Amino acid sequence: MKNKTKECIKECITEITAGKPSVENLTYLLSLPTREDFKPVFDESVRLCKKHFGNRVFVRGIIEFSNYCRKGCLYCGINRANKKTPRYRLTPEEMLDSAAFMKKNGALTVVLQSGEDPGYDKTLIEIVRRIKKELNMAITLSVGEREPSVYREFLKAGADRYLMRIETTDPALFKKLHPDDDLQYRKKCLYNLGKLGFEVGTGIMVGLPEQRLESIANDLLFFKELNPAMVGIGPFLAHEDTVLKDFKNSDIFPTLKVLALIRLILPKSNLPATTAMGTITPDGRQQALKIGANVIMPNFTPSKYRESYKLYDNKICISEEYGKCAACTAGIAMAAGKRIVRSKGYSKNK
Ligand code: 5AD
Ligand code: FES
Repeated sequence: MKNKTKECIKECITEITAGKPSVENLTYLLSLPTREDFKPVFDESVRLCKKHFGNRVFVRGIIEFSNYCRKGCLYCGINRANKKTPRYRLTPEEMLDSAAFMKKNGALTVVLQSGEDPGYDKTLIEIVRRIKKELNMAITLSVGEREPSVYREFLKAGADRYLMRIETTDPALFKKLHPDDDLQYRKKCLYNLGKLGFEVGTGIMVGLPEQRLESIANDLLFFKELNPAMVGIGPFLAHEDTVLKDFKNSDIFPTLKVLALIRLILPKSNLPATTAMGTITPDGRQQALKIGANVIMPNFTPSKYRESYKLYDNKICISEEYGKCAACTAGIAMAAGKRIVRSKGYSKNK
């Protein structure tokens, strides 16, 4: 590598860690072609992760409790146009049982995720109340866009956190991928969640069809502005029953690049090694934990429903025996030289 390139990379890193990320310096780093070129960014991301989290990894157990969805996101396997997927909703008892099992396995935070299924909100609110009262767990909801009055009810019932990826901040791309959604409204929802007092999580997919590096650089600037507690990202993966079925899957390296840059911009944020990373390549989550991720999310959805919550093809953990993901994720952390901690993992990014 030429010295000039090395100097350039160093300069960009210094600017970003000094709180001055720009479309130019981010796009430049994102465009670096090899892992060797990108190594100084990974090194800085590792250093910051270690500084704030040591070798600790937080666990968030996930329960995919409903695959009903009113939306038509082009990439998503459970979008409402998919007539092949049988639709399901877990009963309150099934959810309570899964959460209790999770807690027994050492995961003190439960993520309740679903398609956008507001018809189930009343039941969900009751379930949140019961999980809080009977199990005293930290509760994250990931159920999509709602009016502030509904978010307030979730909060009152005992929800602590809320995850909703922005997916992309590129207006044209957002519109194409979400024909029935509005980028400004989604941003508004995220700001509303923060104002109400949730720990907010957002994120994007990397390698979406027609996504440009400048778009990703702008996504990163949006993260800086929103200042979320958590940022979850993953590679785009095609699903056979969607209109994007013939588009190329993304790759792990670009995804890791984005993760490392988020660590530079938001050093204290919680960054998960996601299921999609583990799908694109078998050791994808280990790689993510090694370069700056500090969260892992084992699947605690009852086995019989998992096949019906395929957001993309070849999703891992579908045919695993119930409970296996808990042990497996502990092994993944270890393989990355880290260890899972029994903690609710509240945000350090205040
Ligand atoms: N490929 C990768 N990630 C996907 N998601 C949904 N569909 C896909 C896909 N085809 C991600 C979205 C969503 C999260 C729950 O899963 O980013 O926010
Ligand atoms: Fe589910 Fe490894 S995390 S099988």
